[in-house]
Order: sequence, then structure tokens, then C-alpha cells
Amino acid sequence: MTDLYAQAQAASAYIRAKAPLQPSLGIILGSGLGDFASQVQSPITIPYAEIPHFPQSTVVGHSGQLVLGTIAGVPVAVMQGRVHAYEGYPMPQVTFPTRVLGLLGCTTLIVTNAAGGIRPNIPQGSLVAIADHINLTGTNAALGPNEPRFAIAPGFGERFFDMSTAYSPHLRALAIAEAARQGFTLSEGVYLAVLGPSFETPAEIRAFRTLGADLVGMSTVHEVIVARHMGLQVLGLSLVTNMAAGVPSLGQDTAETIHHEEVMEIGRRVERQFTSLLTALIPQL
Ligand code: HPA
Repeated sequence: MTDLYAQAQAASAYIRAKAPLQPSLGIILGSGLGDFASQVQSPITIPYAEIPHFPQSTVVGHSGQLVLGTIAGVPVAVMQGRVHAYEGYPMPQVTFPTRVLGLLGCTTLIVTNAAGGIRPNIPQGSLVAIADHINLTGTNAALGPNEPRFAIAPGFGERFFDMSTAYSPHLRALAIAEAARQGFTLSEGVYLAVLGPSFETPAEIRAFRTLGADLVGMSTVHEVIVARHMGLQVLGLSLVTNMAAGVPSLGQDTAETIHHEEVMEIGRRVERQFTSLLTALIPQL
């Protein structure tokens, strides 16, 4: 773990040397949402492959670069693409970029993802503010020796840490209010994370619904766990790219099969709404 801290420091030192601005906001863009990075003003783009110890994304639709600059005057670090546990990366690697965002000076993190919708009343194409999560990936990003030096504020970096307001109620309220101003409903939902990469079975989705999940996906929870360990405030946004396995779309009798291409296509379609919500929201955070 000491190594991990030194590696994260080396990565952040490399990034700082390339991009002198200190980001206060980190943004992780999920499947189909990567184009949001083009909103960054005066961008400095650093491919993950160049950054010491940074993991490489192997998934189509995750381009794998860090973009630093400003959005509406706010200094940001945008991760265009992430790595997932299902790619075979161990937890410290999956969450390494989040650790680095903290060391770079980010105090707020916006995590975004593509998710399957479990509730028919949150249809395909919806944007959802994550209210809470259920981690069923079978592992935890904070596993291993504790490293208190990752804390960005007093009271954080502890062995055991609170997750009762992991997704900031304040940031969520701001996002919901901004969506309403822009004329659409930002629903709230519980995100359940599985390891993947197989999509779920209909029986699993029925079980997850019983557990209280509204959305299902293969990312985000580990990044949020380390962000909370360090003391970053988190806003989580899901884009419902498909109805989860066995869940029919509203007004339909039967469910459809799920394809990664569909995930990417819906991302492109909702991109404009996602972009206008985030650009208006960022200066308010
Ligand atoms: N299940 C898991 N992850 C996903 C899904 C899904 O249905 N859609 C997009 N990411």
C-alpha cells in the first residue's frame, strides 16, 4: 500500500508537470459519455499510457485519456474512459485514477456510467442521479492495508469509514434542480454493482429488484468507495442505456436482449442532455 501511494504521487507529479492547473473537480466518463470531454476549454490531453502506473482501458468506447482544463471557469480533470474489475485489473488498479484525482487537488468527483434499468418507470435513455449503491461485486476497493495519507481533509483516510452519505445529498439536489430548470426529470435511484462482464440473468435482476436496486452496472462503486475514503464529495449520474435482463420496456410485453453497441448508441443520443446538465451544474458545485 505504501507503494500504491508512491505510485499515485508519481502519477500526479507527472500530470502536474504537463498541466500546471490544479483541478478542483474530477469527472469520470462512462460508456457512451466520453464525448463530454470536448467541453473542456484550453484542454491539455494526456493519454493514460503516458502516465506512470496508470491502468489502460481495454473496452470499446473508453478512449483512455485524461483531459485537464476548465469548464465554465472551473478547473477540471476529466477521465475519458475508465478501467473495470472485469477487465482483470486488481482493485488498487481500478481505483488508481481516483486516488490520483484526489492527490491532484480534486475535492469533488462526478462519476458517470451506463446502467441497465430495473424499474420500468425509469425508461431507456433516462439520466438518473445515484442516491445510494449496493456493492455485489464481491470485493471492496479499500481492501488491504490502510493508507491514511490519501486523506484530503481531516477525519478521512481512516480504516473504517462512513458510507451513509456516499453520494452527496447536496450535490444531488443541485443536479435535480438544474435538470428541472432545463425541463427534464432527473430521477433518483439505487445503483447495484456486479462484477460482469456477462450481463445479468432475468432471475438475478428479479433478485436485485427485491433488494431495492433501480439500476445495475459494472463500475462506479469502487471509485466511490475510495473517493469517500479520501474525503471527496461525490455526485453519481447513470445513463439508462437499456432495460436490464428480463425487464420489458414501458408498453411492451417482452424484454429484449442486451448488446454493448446499444449501450454506446443510447449514450450518443442522450449526450446533448447530459452535456447541458453538466455544464450548467459544474459552476454550482
Ligand atoms: N447490466 C450491467 N451493466 C450494464 C448494463 C446492464 O444491463 N447496461 C449498461 N451497463
